[in-house]
Amino acid sequence: MTPFFSVSHLSKRYEWEGRAVQALADVSFTLERGETLGLAGPSGCGKSTLARIIMRLSPADSGQVRFEDQDWLNLRGRELRAARRRMQMVFQDTHGAFNPRATVEDAIGDPLRIHHVVASGQRPYEITRLLERVGLSPDMGKRPVLHLSGGQRQRVAIARAIACRPSLLVMDEPVSALDISIRAQILELLVSLQSETGLSCLFVSHDLAVIRAVCHRVAIMESGRIVEYGQTGRIISSPQSDTAKRLIAAVPTLRLQDKNHV
Ligand SMILES: Nc1ncnc2c1ncn2[C@@H]1O[C@H](COP(=O)(O)OP(=O)(O)OP(=O)(O)O)[C@@H](O)[C@H]1O
Ligand SMILES: [Mg+2]
Repeated sequence: MTPFFSVSHLSKRYEWEGRAVQALADVSFTLERGETLGLAGPSGCGKSTLARIIMRLSPADSGQVRFEDQDWLNLRGRELRAARRRMQMVFQDTHGAFNPRATVEDAIGDPLRIHHVVASGQRPYEITRLLERVGLSPDMGKRPVLHLSGGQRQRVAIARAIACRPSLLVMDEPVSALDISIRAQILELLVSLQSETGLSCLFVSHDLAVIRAVCHRVAIMESGRIVEYGQTGRIISSPQSDTAKRLIAAVPTLRLQDKNHV
């Protein structure tokens, strides 16, 4: 069976003022339905570049992405619009991700309207349902998104992303800007949403403790390449690459747990 989502031999080089960075070099992986794959690695290793290419926010130099049996990077027109609805993104920056004048209702209602997810008369009920699903009170609808706390804003971003009923959610450091207690709540929300809807997720984070909380498998990246790839538990308990070892060493709670295993 062909995987639900696959990335094959993706490469990307940035060049400016005579200098060049190979941001991605021959990156390949697969993702199954209902699976969360983590992309972890040090700053500058190419995680956001990969997420942006997958979302078609930036072009690849070479390589292929297959999404629900389609050649995703080459889709155009109506096919692209239909498939776009099935792939949504949540960013780290909860401020910049919204129109500064948008209310919570606008932020969640726009994708419902644009993609005709429900009939217009049903839209207020659907907004209420989505707000409740992400743990926000329906009274929040009229409030400007920018007046909310970071954690509340990230819940609105998740509600907006799932409004279109996507099959794949791409998240770039979605909890990195949040306090630790809020972070745990958002991760719990993601795990429960996923088990409820069978959503697949690509989850970018430099923090392996966060990856461990939500990801079935993880790809460890360094300098634009995947250097290790496998079950999250296995990689955390017996890392093979220096990069994975360094990422584990950077998280004290993982280090302690690792010692207890020995
Ligand atoms: N638009 C761009 N122009 C030139 N170089 C870029 C551009 N975007 C990213 N890069 C370079 O590509 C490399 C990968 O960057 P990227 O943002 O993908 O890393 P990252 O893994 O997301 O890092 P971080 O953890 O800090 O977010 C870096 O060397 C970066 O400087
Ligand atoms: Mg990044």
